[in-house]
Amino acid sequence: MSPSLTVRRIAADQGAVFRELRTASLREAPYAFGETLEDALLADATSFDTTAAHHACSDDTTSFILYTEGHPAGLIGACFEESALHRAFVSELWVAPAVRHLRGGELLVNTASEWLASQGAREIYAWVADSNRTAMRFYERLGFGPTGEHTRTARTADAWETLLVRHVPPAAEPAAP
Ligand SMILES: CC(C)(COP(=O)(O)OP(=O)(O)OC[C@H]1O[C@@H](n2cnc3c(N)ncnc32)[C@H](O)[C@@H]1OP(=O)(O)O)[C@@H](O)C(=O)NCCC(=O)NCCS
Repeated sequence: MSPSLTVRRIAADQGAVFRELRTASLREAPYAFGETLEDALLADATSFDTTAAHHACSDDTTSFILYTEGHPAGLIGACFEESALHRAFVSELWVAPAVRHLRGGELLVNTASEWLASQGAREIYAWVADSNRTAMRFYERLGFGPTGEHTRTARTADAWETLLVRHVPPAAEPAAP
């Protein structure tokens, strides 16, 4: 039987869970993220507490955690960029290998997208490394498409990443004032 998957916004006291998931994702899928495992391990544990507390109540940035049978098994970030464009992004998506292909990734992206839409987003953006064919196919299957923006990754000179976008379905858009 498939395990039941649920997603909840991070709580203020979940710094340790956040650190555990973030380091697990960087250890298992280092190719997928801008940050390195070393960066995360060197960071003060209290910085994860601070981030969790902020993400639990901020209107601009948050994280959602995937649970399988009550155990943390995945993560996604959702935020609005600070520039004038104020675009809405999902990022740092990771699902533990043992529970992949069960739509946990889809649940995380959709939950994060709904939260961004509830904060006013009309489009949801995601950067994906060109070499990460699994993530590219995953996002395409969810209705994301290329924006035309394509750039070198900060970490590796020869690696490129593509900016994808998905429009928020009209039913999920906030009502006009
Ligand atoms: C991308 C990722 C989050 C998908 O999580 P998931 O829970 O397996 O996603 P879902 O079950 O919702 O959807 C899976 C779909 O994604 C695609 N996909 C997932 N794994 C794939 C693989 N190994 N090869 C090809 N396509 C794959 C397929 O379309 C797949 O559909 P299927 O299960 O019917 O074959 C997960 O593979 C992961 O954490 N990868 C490592 C980290 C990463 O790359 N993050 C993205 C950074 S941009």
